[in-house]
Amino acid sequence: MSTKKILVIGSGGREHAFCWKLSQSPQHPQLFAAPGNAGTARVASNLPIDGGDFEAVKAAVLLHEIDMVLVGPEAPLVDGIHDYFLNDTALQSVPVIGPQKAAAALEGSKDFAKAFMQRHNIPTAKHATFTGETLEDGKAFLATMTPPYVLKADGLAAGKGVLIIKDRKEAEAALTAMLIDQKFGSASAKVVIEEFLDGVELSCFVLTDGRSGKLLPMAKDYKRIGEGDIGLNTGGMGAVSPVPFVDEAFQQKIMSRIVTPTLEGLQKDSLPYKGFIFIGLINVKGDPYVIEYNVRMGDPETEAVLPRVQSDLVALLEATAKEKLAEETIAISPNAACTVMAVSGGYPEAYEKGIPISGLETVTDAVVFHAGTTEQQGTVVTNGGRVLAVTGVAPTAQEALATAYKQMGKISFDKSYYRTDIGKDIL
Ligand code: AMP
Ligand code: GLY
Repeated sequence: MSTKKILVIGSGGREHAFCWKLSQSPQHPQLFAAPGNAGTARVASNLPIDGGDFEAVKAAVLLHEIDMVLVGPEAPLVDGIHDYFLNDTALQSVPVIGPQKAAAALEGSKDFAKAFMQRHNIPTAKHATFTGETLEDGKAFLATMTPPYVLKADGLAAGKGVLIIKDRKEAEAALTAMLIDQKFGSASAKVVIEEFLDGVELSCFVLTDGRSGKLLPMAKDYKRIGEGDIGLNTGGMGAVSPVPFVDEAFQQKIMSRIVTPTLEGLQKDSLPYKGFIFIGLINVKGDPYVIEYNVRMGDPETEAVLPRVQSDLVALLEATAKEKLAEETIAISPNAACTVMAVSGGYPEAYEKGIPISGLETVTDAVVFHAGTTEQQGTVVTNGGRVLAVTGVAPTAQEALATAYKQMGKISFDKSYYRTDIGKDIL
């Protein structure tokens, strides 16, 4: 049989983790990343293509005779890359892992996601949606809620579209800024206002072929820039898997109240989905509620989840494409995996790029996943806010964290920063 050629779209730590895992397949696929980073370049051929440029993706798929495309980030999915393939006679036979546009709206529109959850009785915060025309109704709705107020831009806003505000006057002003002054551009033409849920968040991942689904390891992400989870929101500063407070009983609730109705809901609503579903959950006094759906894997969660997956990812993705996932089992390592993210000084606000990174070759025992890196004249340099993720894998989370931090200590670049408290709150 000829070598399989797989194209991974994206350029972050998640995509390096995908390439790393795919490269371990006994099927020895030939891998491509578009555009990738200095890490993906070690196991794949980087193609200088933006995943949002479908014509360029098409040209690359035809040129390199790609057999399967795995889409990392949400934007191309929300913009319909899967549909683009299905509607093109030259690309139709190339499976895309990631939902079609209609289903990707679960991440692309918070209002759509809330309506989906309501329709299928999936536990989530109570909400209402408003537009510029119904601004006054929105303010009246705020008056009926207890603070803090949660305001969400309906569309994609690069992780910045959720505001949590204590004061009602401030919340009214923010609502006006979103709906009338387009604070988040067209993404905030609609705003979801919802009840604040108090609890600990966790990330649940499901791989589905549109018929059945398989649960992947769960993880907990650390979103804020500062120690103790304070300060500005980031893409994620670290992750641990498994999540210690998810016991048998809680996992059963997640399955029966959330995962199963979500998969059934996709079928009932004829939403075509072949790919990863990331369900952002919150544990409110032992009951799981959905905070959000993402139509992709999480980052940095993928860097902690995939090292625990023992099964061949190529086989799992092929089964997904062929709607034969029910025949597969996903073997999960009992080991824990903990990921610490090193970021550029200043992130998530302004930061520099192009800073040389040293010590990468001295890392032992841990896996280094590149996020914002590139290679310049043979040197790996920073190329983004989140620069690299170091994952330790060990029988206990404590040991995995100790390994990740020890190895992280060997890597350095000017103005680098990482949180030293990943996992501390739950271990
Ligand atoms: P989202 O983009 O919907 O994941 O929201 C971003 C972050 O805002 C989440 O990770 C939560 O920390 C927080 N958040 C969103 N919705 C709620 C809610 N209803 N109650 C409490 N926190 C929330
Ligand atoms: N780590 C959260 C996300 O990927 O959205």
